[in-house]
Amino acid sequence: METTTLDIQKIRIDFPILSRKVNGKPLVYLDNAATSQTPQQVIDAIVDYYSNYNANIHRGVHALSQEATDKYEAARHKIQKHFNAAKSHEIIFTSGTTHGINMVASGFSTLLKKGDELLVSAMEHHSNIVPWQMLAERTGAILKVIPMNIEGELMMDAYDKLLSNKTRLVFCNHISNALGTINPIEEIIEKAHSAGAAVLIDGAQAAPHIKADMQQLDVDFYTVSAHKMCGPTGVGMLYGKEEWLNKLPPYQGGGEMIAEVTFEKTTYADLPHKFEAGTPNICGGIAFGTALDYMNNIGFDAIAAYEHELLQYATRRLLEIEGLKIYGTAKSKTSVLSFNIEGIHPYDIGTILDKLGIAVRTGHHCAQPIMDFYKIPGTVRASFCFYNTEEEVDVLVSGVRRAVAMLQ
Ligand code: ALA
Repeated sequence: METTTLDIQKIRIDFPILSRKVNGKPLVYLDNAATSQTPQQVIDAIVDYYSNYNANIHRGVHALSQEATDKYEAARHKIQKHFNAAKSHEIIFTSGTTHGINMVASGFSTLLKKGDELLVSAMEHHSNIVPWQMLAERTGAILKVIPMNIEGELMMDAYDKLLSNKTRLVFCNHISNALGTINPIEEIIEKAHSAGAAVLIDGAQAAPHIKADMQQLDVDFYTVSAHKMCGPTGVGMLYGKEEWLNKLPPYQGGGEMIAEVTFEKTTYADLPHKFEAGTPNICGGIAFGTALDYMNNIGFDAIAAYEHELLQYATRRLLEIEGLKIYGTAKSKTSVLSFNIEGIHPYDIGTILDKLGIAVRTGHHCAQPIMDFYKIPGTVRASFCFYNTEEEVDVLVSGVRRAVAMLQ
């Protein structure tokens, strides 16, 4: 492997969990697409919040409430800067990507009419399929699928043909959680806009690897989860262009999302509060900001370069195993490797790997249509983060060999 500018051994010290053992073996954590691990800096931010300034925000005149509010809003600004949104009120705190998608899908129920068309890519996570199916049922809109080829790349010719003046919304992931494909979202957005349609991008799998620029992409909605990028679970963000967020009705009613309430009529608060009813995950939001600081200190260019090397190394090593097939061979790909061994169920491999301290995900990865496309029940998925090493890839490869020897 080429050398990179990252000092991985130094980085690994930041992640206490990486030095634990599982089943008596050193943990080899390769389930980063499900959730990434948490650096001490983020753990410290969480402890600091609950130890020193736990209070509700936007509500109290007292010092703790002011401090918590300032830190929470500072985190919103960090997120705005990281994703280069034009305005901080275009950043809505959510509980995660699924919440963000549901917010937009629910809002669109007031904007769609029967016969309007929605385009979904063939390689979506269930969270970017089911809310739209529910929306289509409610409104009479029609859901159409942009197909993919055997490499796991979207068929852009088919996309061109599906787009029409009936298309109201296109939704697609930036990176596929099951295949690792990096989708050509710039082209998808530009073409949708030419047809007069809006675009929502599920950025959950991209955010840990790529620094997406909202203004440059000119995307209408982009949504991520903090826990996939070194932050805590239960918090994420929905970016929405101001004009769209103003058009959509609130997702939930409750405290803090109102301007005035009487029993006759309620008026809503300005953005972003219109979409943030109830007490949010205050600590989570603040720690999300710390996670972004942490990743930016390492640097996304260095992360991408290192993970690319790791992906190439892991691909080459895994393919040395007889009967191993990788699903997702797109030209443009991030560090996700989905594979099967001929004649062996992925779950059985995953179980043996676990006994060896190696954490992978097995199954359909919440993307059943992809598994149906390949006519398989699921895959073994190893997904890498910047703290993984070539040595861990070697442990995975010998673990898979051992599993094959036991199961064949
Ligand atoms: N969406 C997460 C995954 O792909 C949970 O594993």
